[in-house]
Amino acid sequence: MSTAAIIAIAVGAVLVLAAVSFFTLARRSDVRGAGALSSETLDRDKANRKDSRAFEAAATSGASRSAALAEAEGTASRGTGTGLATVDTEPALVPWVAPDPEAIGVSRRQFFNRATVTLMTAGLGSFAAASFVGFLWPTGTGGFGGSVPVGKLATIKDGIEQGGGFFYAPEARSWITEYPTEALPVASTIYPASLLTAMEQGIVVLSQKCPHLGCRVPECPTSQWFECQCHGSQYNRVGEKKAGPAPRGMDRHPATISASGDVVIDTGTVVPGPAIGVNTTGQEAEGPHCTGGGDH
Ligand code: FES
Repeated sequence: MSTAAIIAIAVGAVLVLAAVSFFTLARRSDVRGAGALSSETLDRDKANRKDSRAFEAAATSGASRSAALAEAEGTASRGTGTGLATVDTEPALVPWVAPDPEAIGVSRRQFFNRATVTLMTAGLGSFAAASFVGFLWPTGTGGFGGSVPVGKLATIKDGIEQGGGFFYAPEARSWITEYPTEALPVASTIYPASLLTAMEQGIVVLSQKCPHLGCRVPECPTSQWFECQCHGSQYNRVGEKKAGPAPRGMDRHPATISASGDVVIDTGTVVPGPAIGVNTTGQEAEGPHCTGGGDH
């Protein structure tokens, strides 16, 4: 996926989240707030208030309790339409009560709560989108961690010769050295088929990372070994451990070689180095060491 496409997806996600935020904040509450009464309840309350006033009027005029009740009942039946006459009564004065903010719209607290939730949601959504695009999207070929083309086999072999026995492929963070044909019968009993493909073509691909604690292992031109500067581990030219604290030989990557001779290293696959004592080539140091080495 191109960088422009990734940016377009990220911008689109942010715009969608911004639109959601806008409509959430702009939305007025059109639902009845808590405590609001239904129309039936309001009608019933109104009828009850008329009853109360009729009862009080009767009581004030000196009528007996039973007469007041009868008058109230008569008023009630007239108010509900079951009586014979209709009596006009003054509407009751109802004390003013502040409107319920829940019922009339969005209060300040609601606004800030919704804004907080919306902004957090937008932030997390953007982070998730960026994470997906940046880290979870499948990577293509060409970078370390995937399949890395390192050139033609013939060119690499020339590079090994010109490099005094060692060829470094920086894009694959790997060393490539020559693997002797005469050692293949022994190698085939030790190394997996994924490595033998390249070894049968005369090369071995070694991770530059020391299996001891991860330092980059340099070549030693005089001994024709690899010799780690950190703690002195030593490996022969095909990465088999000879000395030092490393727990095994140098780790390896499988490589494929096409019919046209193009070499591609699978840096996403790491094959652990051979066990201590494996020495398929029998190569001894060919000169002075670059480090002290020694078994620890
Ligand atoms: S990191 Fe190489 S010997 Fe320790």
